[in-house]
Amino acid sequence: MTRSYPNTRLRRTRASGWSRAMHRETVLTAADLIWPIFVTGGKGVEDPVDSLPGVSRWSVDGIAARAKEAVELGIPCIALFPNTQPDLRSEDGAEAYNPDNLMCRAIRAVRDACGNDIGILTDVALDPYTTHGQDGLLNDAGYVENDDTVAVLVDQALNQAEAGADIIAPSDMMDGRVKAIRMALEMGGHHNIQIMSYAAKYASAFYGPFRDAVGSGDRLVGDKKTYQMDPANGSEALAEVALDIAEGADSVMVKPGLAYLDIIWRVKERFDVPVFAYQVSGEYAMIEAGAAAGVGDRDGLLMEKLIAFKRAGCSGVLTYHAPVAARILNG
Ligand code: PBG
Repeated sequence: MTRSYPNTRLRRTRASGWSRAMHRETVLTAADLIWPIFVTGGKGVEDPVDSLPGVSRWSVDGIAARAKEAVELGIPCIALFPNTQPDLRSEDGAEAYNPDNLMCRAIRAVRDACGNDIGILTDVALDPYTTHGQDGLLNDAGYVENDDTVAVLVDQALNQAEAGADIIAPSDMMDGRVKAIRMALEMGGHHNIQIMSYAAKYASAFYGPFRDAVGSGDRLVGDKKTYQMDPANGSEALAEVALDIAEGADSVMVKPGLAYLDIIWRVKERFDVPVFAYQVSGEYAMIEAGAAAGVGDRDGLLMEKLIAFKRAGCSGVLTYHAPVAARILNG
């Protein structure tokens, strides 16, 4: 059957609001949003991140308040990232497995404030804890050692699990880390803790404001190209995803978001696993900067980008716009 004009006029179903609503192919709700939040030390602290207008680092009490806000808005999950104080950063990032580090304190505060009404996703990688800003351990040549790093990431993941994390999200891109973390979680009796792997994470220019927020940017020596992916590669992303699923990931992430919609689509077509996109800090900042420069209406710009992730096949999106988007969606 071939469609032809005038039997088919595609504008018919677009002619009124009710009809557009009825024919809408994808929906975005607050339940699709994961809200990344930055944790800092002290009490009663709100410390704005200059390169992310509208985003702040919050002390642990403020994190608990943000978590309550998320619950009220219908946002199901928050993602925590610590800005570790300088004297606790070290060559080996040992603060990552201190049971009383910022991350663990924030996890416990959120649990106290919200019980099980919210999911807590925690980032596994060493960059917020190292003096050199790399995600793993460096050898004498300055190369990030894979297997030695994985051993430490396991300790970091268990530390977060014991503090009460619901979803462990390794963002480090070491080979074999999902398998090692999954085995350790099983051995530790944490059978229901999920792993959302940053399966296809690219060496991207869009992470700048995040690195400001966690304080790793100025410290970073070199780049992350020996472990994060080349933006030119697509098939390799499928190989990363296949391995992470085989190793025990419950869901996978593609990061950054908008420049990688083709990857999201290919992953969704190929695998029956939930896919999430991380709309990263640079993407958020560009929307805010664009709106401030008069490119368009901020809410319109951000909602159009978020629905694109759903259309491409995502189960949900990590976005700094989560509370703004939820307010828009909730009317
Ligand atoms: C680090 C990490 C990064 C982000 C999340 N986890 C930055 C990096 O790899 O340098 C970026 C998130 C963002 O830009 O919003 N393991």
